Amino acid sequence: VFDISRLGGICSKGLTLEPRAGNEGIRIWETPAGVMNSIGLQNPGVPHFIQHEMPEMLKLGPVAIANLSGSTLESYAEGAKLLDKTPVPLIELNISCPNVTKGGAAWGLTCQTAQSAVKAVRSVTSKPIAVKLTPAAANLTEVALACIDSGADALVIANSFQGIAIDIESGRPVFANVKAGLGGPAVRPMALKNVYEVVKAVNELPENKRVPVIGSGGIATWQDAVEFIMAGASAVEVGSGTFINPFAMLNIIDGLKAFMMRKGYASIEEFRGCAL
Ligand code: SIN
Repeated sequence: VFDISRLGGICSKGLTLEPRAGNEGIRIWETPAGVMNSIGLQNPGVPHFIQHEMPEMLKLGPVAIANLSGSTLESYAEGAKLLDKTPVPLIELNISCPNVTKGGAAWGLTCQTAQSAVKAVRSVTSKPIAVKLTPAAANLTEVALACIDSGADALVIANSFQGIAIDIESGRPVFANVKAGLGGPAVRPMALKNVYEVVKAVNELPENKRVPVIGSGGIATWQDAVEFIMAGASAVEVGSGTFINPFAMLNIIDGLKAFMMRKGYASIEEFRGCAL
């Protein structure tokens, strides 16, 4: 659709050690200002990814990121061990998938579980790890700091918010798992608040302990990206925005560049975190 080499990075679908067929039933449900998903980590498994998809991703130019999920600590560690032997430059450790009954977001709910997942992966790989957290954590900032303490090199704030949709004709929940992940513009102000709070806390750490925060949650325009950078994000992820506009990411890059020229910014560091 477009020249993908213009992007900074591309991230795989959430990978698990073993292949997964994903969830039964409806998987995507549009809402007035967003989209709900219940994919259930459908993926071909880490070994298949390493053999087939990753070499193609690496050829494309942007930083290729392997998103690693798991149900047990052992499966996270095994997946990370396999990725460690590959040229993939970055692992996004997914402890935040809202759509699986075992593992997934459950790992990101508390400091203790998040730390155990980060430590399990940290102990088997020297690759940089960006930990993708869940907004369902009772205290997201504390979980974020615990992940840094356990060896996270970056944080992704954050995955989708859990919601429910009901089919009013059948009177039943739309999704087989009842709950699903809500993304898109509806969640953006809440995601922005989470980034703002986490960056504020990260900035209070000694300089050598600070890690970059990647903003995620309803970013669809360059103005959204600017807001997240002003809240302290070092980079942004775009997901559901591309379903509405396949060129959303290019429009963000072009709009950001024009904004920076208009403002006289030579780098995003000149306005990153200015709203804090
Ligand atoms: C899914 O596969 O259900 C979504 C993945 C995620 O939110 O991490």
